[in-house]
Amino acid sequence: MSVAVELRHITKRFPGVIANKDVSIKVETGTVHALVGENGAGKSTVMKILYGMQRPDSGEILVNGKEVHFKNPNDAIDAGIGMVHQHFMLADNFTVLENIILGSEPKHGATIDFAAARKKIVEMAAQYGLEIDPDVLVEELGVGQRQRVEILKVLFRGANILIFDEPTAVLVPQEVDDLFKALEGLRAQGMAVIFISHKLDEVLRVADEVTVVRQGSTVAEVKSKDVTARQLAELMVGSELPKPSTLGHTRREEITLALKDVSIPAATGGRNLISNISFELHAGEVVGIAGVEGNGQAELVEAIMGLREYTGSIQFRGSSIDQLSVADRHDLGIGLIPEDRQRQALMMSSPLWENRILGHQRGKPIMRGFVIDKKATIESTRTIMQEFDVRAPGPDTLAAALSGGNQQKFIVGREMSKAPALLVASHPTRGVDVGAQGAIWDVLRKAREKGMAVVLISADLEELIGMSDRLLVMLRGAITAELDPAKTTPEQLGSAMTGAA
Ligand SMILES: Nc1ncnc2c1ncn2[C@@H]1O[C@H](COP(=O)(O)OP(=O)(O)O)[C@@H](O)[C@H]1O
Ligand SMILES: [Mg+2]
Repeated sequence: MSVAVELRHITKRFPGVIANKDVSIKVETGTVHALVGENGAGKSTVMKILYGMQRPDSGEILVNGKEVHFKNPNDAIDAGIGMVHQHFMLADNFTVLENIILGSEPKHGATIDFAAARKKIVEMAAQYGLEIDPDVLVEELGVGQRQRVEILKVLFRGANILIFDEPTAVLVPQEVDDLFKALEGLRAQGMAVIFISHKLDEVLRVADEVTVVRQGSTVAEVKSKDVTARQLAELMVGSELPKPSTLGHTRREEITLALKDVSIPAATGGRNLISNISFELHAGEVVGIAGVEGNGQAELVEAIMGLREYTGSIQFRGSSIDQLSVADRHDLGIGLIPEDRQRQALMMSSPLWENRILGHQRGKPIMRGFVIDKKATIESTRTIMQEFDVRAPGPDTLAAALSGGNQQKFIVGREMSKAPALLVASHPTRGVDVGAQGAIWDVLRKAREKGMAVVLISADLEELIGMSDRLLVMLRGAITAELDPAKTTPEQLGSAMTGAA
């Protein structure tokens, strides 16, 4: 086998960050090579360097054995490298054909030779299993098909080294299957495919070889048939995987939260959304709420937070909060990690320091009298970033620029900065990388030791069992079982959730 591309000892610094530190990757012809690592590990940066979008500070790039120095993507394209971007860069109001040839139009004299282009595209599409109608407008295509157009565009320019940066992030499972078939087709035709991902099950399905990067450096190169997903994950984070577990009991005498017969009637009549929910939660205790999604967990959270009207009563540290607004409850010390972080907890196009203010507009450190204390807010943002390991250049960074895991660590940190006596955590680690997941579990454990009470809602049964002192199962709006996590397996919990046990 021959080596299609080799990156040697690539280093790249940005102000305040070393994105790549001695990264080496060797990709053979006719293989799918995965590049894996946690968010922020430097995967996109090193691929942008290979594609001529960024210049390395040091290191070498060899294409087909020859050293290259790309000044821009055109140089890389000329060397046979193509990049399928994470965010598609197609012109919506042009046809598939026009998009594919844009920038590399085959000419016939001074005019564009559309017939030749169409013929070539149809042939390529058939050859690689990327069938598509060349005359349809791109705006009419779904995400999977747009990706296909991106791939064809790259192939049309003569690429034989293809870079895919997290191509599955935007796809539904059926589209993932189609993409993987296409990747296999490309491999069979002798292309070198570089596949960036942090979804390890996908990597093991499609890749021949895997390079693992951690904090900007290559830490391993392995054949995918020789490793398990867990081993890859441990290479990614650099230690044994954190396990969701709380040790011993930290439960105190004091009752932090008490619900009595809390119900929310359905707007349209019929069965209550939640029905006669009663439970008590002590300081230093975690109660896990298990249930198949849509069985009232979201409504329970809304009742506790004051986001919805309910009947029955809720007491917080011995006093009724039924008449209190959302903001009043928050001020009293009830914190929330909401389910949908991008919609409910962040202003994606604002800097972190402005996001620091969100939901915390009252009192210190944000407000000085009636004005926002910008200096103190920025300082507090910096503190949160340090304490909760939010990896981003600084408080001015836009929330949208952070990885999902770093966004979530920021949200958790912001909520914990008020030292709430009660934290309602709705799917706190859903969709975050294993490093961030472990960090968030750590935060919850430490706060529990200091007496914080936690209502934990999660679809991750191991997380529920590991982190909870007590489990309540919700089914059709009611609590149908109480289980001891120390004596419950995920299988048993799963069947309790469906009402089978
Ligand atoms: N243009 C840039 N300016 C400043 N910092 C950047 C830039 N691009 C990436 N970074 C930083 O470099 C690090 C690696 O980022 P990236 O290569 O995007 O990681 P990955 O793709 O593995 O998630 C991160 O800390 C990121 O914030
Ligand atoms: Mg990336």
